[in-house]
Amino acid sequence: MGIARLIKTRWSPRAFIDHSITPDEAELLFAAARWAPSSMNEQPWKYYYALKEDSEQFKLFLDCLKPGNQVWAKNASMLILSTARKNFDYKGKINRHAMHDTGAANVLLCLQANEMGFQAHQMGGFEPDKTYESFGIDNEKFDLVSFIAVGKPGDPSILPEDLRKSEIKPRVRKSLNDIVSRIN
Ligand SMILES: Cc1cc2nc3c(=O)[nH]c(=O)nc-3n(C[C@H](O)[C@H](O)[C@H](O)COP(=O)(O)O)c2cc1C
Repeated sequence: MGIARLIKTRWSPRAFIDHSITPDEAELLFAAARWAPSSMNEQPWKYYYALKEDSEQFKLFLDCLKPGNQVWAKNASMLILSTARKNFDYKGKINRHAMHDTGAANVLLCLQANEMGFQAHQMGGFEPDKTYESFGIDNEKFDLVSFIAVGKPGDPSILPEDLRKSEIKPRVRKSLNDIVSRIN
């Protein structure tokens, strides 16, 4: 028994090949995200996306990212913005699990991307005020969670030197001892 293949082979690339994602493929990513568990089955996530060929809309997403992310995310085939509804539909109480649950949905989206031969790279480096304004999102109702770049991994040599180095360095994780305590 080992770690599931889709988990083990998921990663966050910055170099993407020039490739189109079809609307049907895009829909499959969100169909997978939709199956995430959520508090009270509230499904607080709401997504916006643009495909690269819709260049005006794609630029709207790109322009909300921090410059360090724009450098590489411009090569993605698809850009996504994930947001979380702050309050439960039922009785309108604050849903303090909304960000958590949207994060869970985002991970399922990343795994589905992997299954389809793509990879998805989440980004917290974006301009919140600009994003609320550009997308016309009500900041009293929604939190901004992350942008996600999706595409087929490409040759790291297309990246500037510093990013190329990060792209090829081994992925690391904390040891299990650092993150797990058995209480017995
Ligand atoms: C919420 C969140 C925000 C992130 N923000 C950025 C970002 O702004 N720019 C970036 O290049 N990567 C970003 N990442 C990607 C992480 O750096 C990456 O997941 C981590 O280094 C582990 O690498 P791996 O996904 O390849 O396993 C973010 C990931 C998450 C989940």
